[in-house]
Amino acid sequence: MATSQFPLHPQSRYANLNSAIRQPTEFTCFSYDNTRRYHSDDSSLRYYYTPHLPADLNRGFDEFEKHDDTIDEHLDGLLRALEEYERTTGEIVKADVVTWRGMLTKIMSLPFDLRNSFEMNATRFQDTIFIEEHHPFKMSSQRPLDRRGKLMSFWGYKFETLATLSQTWDDTPRSVIEGRGNEVVNNEAQFCSIVKTGFADVKVVIAGEVDAIWDERRPDSPTPHNYVELKTSKRPTSERDDINFERKLQRIWAQSFLLGVPRVMVGFRDNDGTLLSVEEFFTRDIPKIAKRSGRNLWDGKYSIDFTTALLQWLKAAIPSVEETEGVVWRIRYREGMPGVEVERTDEKSFLTQSFIDWRKS
Ligand code: A3P
Ligand code: MG
Ligand code: MG
Repeated sequence: MATSQFPLHPQSRYANLNSAIRQPTEFTCFSYDNTRRYHSDDSSLRYYYTPHLPADLNRGFDEFEKHDDTIDEHLDGLLRALEEYERTTGEIVKADVVTWRGMLTKIMSLPFDLRNSFEMNATRFQDTIFIEEHHPFKMSSQRPLDRRGKLMSFWGYKFETLATLSQTWDDTPRSVIEGRGNEVVNNEAQFCSIVKTGFADVKVVIAGEVDAIWDERRPDSPTPHNYVELKTSKRPTSERDDINFERKLQRIWAQSFLLGVPRVMVGFRDNDGTLLSVEEFFTRDIPKIAKRSGRNLWDGKYSIDFTTALLQWLKAAIPSVEETEGVVWRIRYREGMPGVEVERTDEKSFLTQSFIDWRKS
């Protein structure tokens, strides 16, 4: 089958493209509640409220209500929100690429993390390329976590519970604020923001989970909303830890940048899962941290230029001719490969029938 490749080297090829980047603007959103039911509103959005320190991130691990990530959700929530938005407003959303934020985070991070293999599926429908994660690859490539691995993954969700409220603070009783350490941790619930953005001439619609908001999300308040990304990280205690954290900042930055989330709150913990401190980072300033350190680990501008070039290549590699509508293409990168490749498959489209019917009506 025909394969086309986007070479990763030489890196200079993608430097100084000076890609104009648009400010992401949210145009719709949706929520999953804690039983994973879909709601076309912001009901699962949480409010940031500083946690009490120090805190034990281990507490409640055995009661964790964990989302079953063996289920392949494709682009279902995103397509449903898009369809509902279009039905309500009468506007058909025009984009070159529609995807989950996680797919673009992988691409933006690739030049600085060449060991991070991935597979995605792409399909073109009405001049838009829809991209999803290739779920079977994700399942087969991730090592099963041992108890410590599961516990460490829990720490991230526990921090979200400790650092947020389900209502604004003035609507929340003191006892609820102080009782957050006892709350059952559940990661089925999600609030997802959907934005229009762009990389140079490539128009992109991205959906992604937003952990919390700083103040309030009023329907009439101008975007970007004061959203907050929450992260946990080991408190650096050595030069090696500093380097690891600086690398981690690349992914954190890319993730937040893509949705236009302006602020990241990092909960620093020790090796035993005690939350020690919380530090605020402004997304727009994070690339300067990597620049100033002089370590040369990553570069924000390069990340944007690289992603722009890759998306432009993808648009050309998945041709907009009638016969290719609904064809599924595999986008693949493996450690050691000289580039990202796209290959035609004979799989069936992963778009929902409801979305296809709506667009064809
Ligand atoms: P941390 O990132 O604080 O460790 P996100 O930060 O993207 O909102 O993700 C929330 C949490 O999900 C993470 O918190 C982590 O606990 C968990 N998580 C995300 N990706 C994971 C992965 N690949 N493996 C295990 N846990 C993961
Ligand atoms: Mg999150
Ligand atoms: Mg987070």
